[in-house]
Amino acid sequence: MIRMFGRMRKSLGWILLIVVLLLAQAYCDLALPSCTSKIIDTGISQKGIEDAVPETIRDGSMKTLLMLLPESSRKDVLRRYTKSNSLYRLRTLTAAQRKKLSDTLSRAEAAAVFAGQKGVDITSLPEPMIRVMTAQLDKMLKEYPQSIVTQAAVQYVASEYQAQNIDLGKMQTDYLLRTGGRMLLFALIAMICSILVAYLASRLSAGLGRDLRQDVYRKVLTFSSHEMNRFSTASLITRSTNDIQQVQMVITLMFRIVLYAPILAIGGLIRVSQTGSYLSWILAVGVGALAALMGVLFAFVMPRFRVLQSKIDRMNLISREILTGIPVIRAFSAEKREERRFDDANRDLTKTNLFVNRAMSLMMPAMMLIMNAISVLIIYSGAHGIDHGRLQVGDMMAFIQYAMQIIMAFLMISAIAVFMPRASVSARRINEVLDTRPMIQSPVHPLSVPSGSGGLLEFDHVSFRYPGAEEDVLKDISFTTKKGQTVALIGSTGSGKSTLVNLIPRFFDVTEGAIRVDGTDIRKMDLADLRERIGYVPQKSVLFSGTVESNLRFGRKDAAEGELLDALSIAQADFVNEKKAASAAGSPRAARTFPAVRSSGLRSPGRSRRGRSFIFSMTVSPLWTSVRTRRCGAR
Ligand SMILES: Nc1ncnc2c1ncn2[C@@H]1O[C@H](COP(=O)(O)OP(=O)(O)OP(=O)(O)O)[C@@H](O)[C@H]1O
Ligand SMILES: [Mg+2]
Repeated sequence: MIRMFGRMRKSLGWILLIVVLLLAQAYCDLALPSCTSKIIDTGISQKGIEDAVPETIRDGSMKTLLMLLPESSRKDVLRRYTKSNSLYRLRTLTAAQRKKLSDTLSRAEAAAVFAGQKGVDITSLPEPMIRVMTAQLDKMLKEYPQSIVTQAAVQYVASEYQAQNIDLGKMQTDYLLRTGGRMLLFALIAMICSILVAYLASRLSAGLGRDLRQDVYRKVLTFSSHEMNRFSTASLITRSTNDIQQVQMVITLMFRIVLYAPILAIGGLIRVSQTGSYLSWILAVGVGALAALMGVLFAFVMPRFRVLQSKIDRMNLISREILTGIPVIRAFSAEKREERRFDDANRDLTKTNLFVNRAMSLMMPAMMLIMNAISVLIIYSGAHGIDHGRLQVGDMMAFIQYAMQIIMAFLMISAIAVFMPRASVSARRINEVLDTRPMIQSPVHPLSVPSGSGGLLEFDHVSFRYPGAEEDVLKDISFTTKKGQTVALIGSTGSGKSTLVNLIPRFFDVTEGAIRVDGTDIRKMDLADLRERIGYVPQKSVLFSGTVESNLRFGRKDAAEGELLDALSIAQADFVNEKKAASAAGSPRAARTFPAVRSSGLRSPGRSRRGRSFIFSMTVSPLWTSVRTRRCGAR
């Protein structure tokens, strides 16, 4: 799987863009709970008043506050306001300045509120009395948690605004709308990022899929019969379709989820530490429980996933054998036996499938249980915190949401983990194909056989043994054919006629001896050049999808109509012409698309594309095989 990522090096820019988008998405997603917290704490509980800093303050109130402040702070506070018409207006402050001012003012404001509750008029008291009283109030306030001080300060600011006839209701609505609007904006940005990530991830993985298919296809085209036998056609098809699809899917999920989950989890942890950090132990317990659950589950289930993949492969193999061998199965009345074999494999697969699915379906409720237990614990401990003034309701709500986001990150990773074993098996299968070095390759410096040369084919003490076989199929074969000569090889079935012919286009290489064309060893010739000189009619005919004509033109695109007819008549496929005549009145194309013509024998020897003057025509059929070299120079 790692190598699959390695292949995506050229898309590094896009991957970085995805990471940036995911970071933006995580930022927005994580901003939402803090907005909720603000709506509850500031918007609802504090009527939209954010802190202890009043925007405007009356002269009298300022005097009272200054009295309650220590000497050293009075100047600082006054510096932050401008006075006009017995009203102090707040100057523009930075966030840090405002925070400091709020801290300074909050104690004085709280003291004023408590003094007011006790019916004490501070302005009427002499300075030494005020000193004693503030010292007492300060001592009392130190025992209260910060939230109670803040609440009292906010209450002071609210009553100050009320006294100035400021519409508090409008202020609250404005705050709620502002914060709600920000929430909407964050949600919108998160959605756009998520859509863009999905788009880019799909594009990248589809691109990877396309490249992989192309590479596998190109590689397979270079395969000799040895490699084809090793992999089998059906397996190569599965590898270039289903396996690539698996890898593609996991890559998409990787970008969209696996990359996102840690960002979300780490971001969530940072945010949590900023809110009610004394609740963090609950999160630690929750994450620990989840990790343990996942660990146990994966220790048992992961190996089964690998087994599942091999059982699917076995199922495929048996289905393929049965489907391709139906005539043989029928002929030997082996239906029952084959059915049993299929049934066994099917049951085996189902059993493993059931186990894996049951285990995975157990995982979801277990995780939900942990999630809910965490919520209950947070609410229980949070309620105590709120009761003691250590925490605000909104903070607790935000904490729950962050906890859920962190757990969701774990859930996402565990969901992906299900696909990983399958994809890594698939990736390994694809890499196997891509890493295979074909046994038969063109030489690096091929010798060129001059055109217009003799057309002499020579077998020189050729022996051949199939890879892995115990005995030679062909032993010490020597013969020569000249231009225009026809050589027929006659022998019983399995005697090696097809094998001998397959050695000429280098479907296999000789084990001993040499095959020469005009004195040049075919292993020293360019493979494409060699094969271009050969007309080949396989024992088993193959028709490509298309028309009769496109099949006829398979060897030579520019063949003239007359040559096509010639080939048809050599192949005794006159029925094509008959069909053409029969359908001439109706649709003339019908004749061209008539597919039943056999391609064996259709190949008419002729001048090759590069104008070389000799062509071998090989006909391979049971019992006799002919190799013919024809003089074509005159054509
Ligand atoms: N791909 C292969 N791998 C291993 N052995 C093979 C392979 N193809 C053929 N053989 C073996 O090589 C021998 C020769 O096979 P070949 O197909 O050349 O015979 P043939 O003379 O063409 O037979 P037929 O008349 O049935 O076409 C046989 O024993 C066969 O089992
Ligand atoms: Mg044969």
